[in-house]
Amino acid sequence: MEKPVLFTFTPENLARAQAIIAKYPAGRQASAVLPLLDLAQRQNGNWLPRAAMDFVADMLEMPRIRVYEIATFYTMFNLQPVGENFVQVCTTTPCWLRGSDGIVKTCRDKLGIGMGETTADGKFTVTEVECLGACVNAPMVQINDDFYEDLTPEIMGKMLDDLKAGKKLPAGSQSGRRGSCAQNGPTSLKAKQDV
Ligand code: FES
Repeated sequence: MEKPVLFTFTPENLARAQAIIAKYPAGRQASAVLPLLDLAQRQNGNWLPRAAMDFVADMLEMPRIRVYEIATFYTMFNLQPVGENFVQVCTTTPCWLRGSDGIVKTCRDKLGIGMGETTADGKFTVTEVECLGACVNAPMVQINDDFYEDLTPEIMGKMLDDLKAGKKLPAGSQSGRRGSCAQNGPTSLKAKQDV
């Protein structure tokens, strides 16, 4: 018989969860469901088993079905195990116009997996996602908590090689531009104006 999966917060995360719940008025503890699910997911290797959702529901005195509805609605929650490097490639129109097809192809070719799949060694999962809100520096991917922007297939390939080698990647623009400044430097508000 399959062993039941159990979930409980570590003492540190239990204290964090209690501090989060305390931010809401009495009787409104259900408002803490998103941060508690996030905490549970982080504790559990970046995915939420049903036992973790049940634990959060019981802690917040919510019907379990309401927590399942929330966890299945938001794509930030993974309901299956994912790789150590969870790569989300944005393929919405601005990223697509700036070459996201090439980024997807590089991931497929370098890792030998399709979208939504995990490498056999558990190091990488790649998924295709909708706009992540960094269109100004398209194309971009999110890997775990960080954004990597201004990508080309070559840059993406090098990033995957570096991750395979266990290197830490610098987050943000990969073309060296500062923030979302124009590629050839500032074009306006260059001089201080007297008011
Ligand atoms: S379209 Fe890719 S971040 Fe918005």
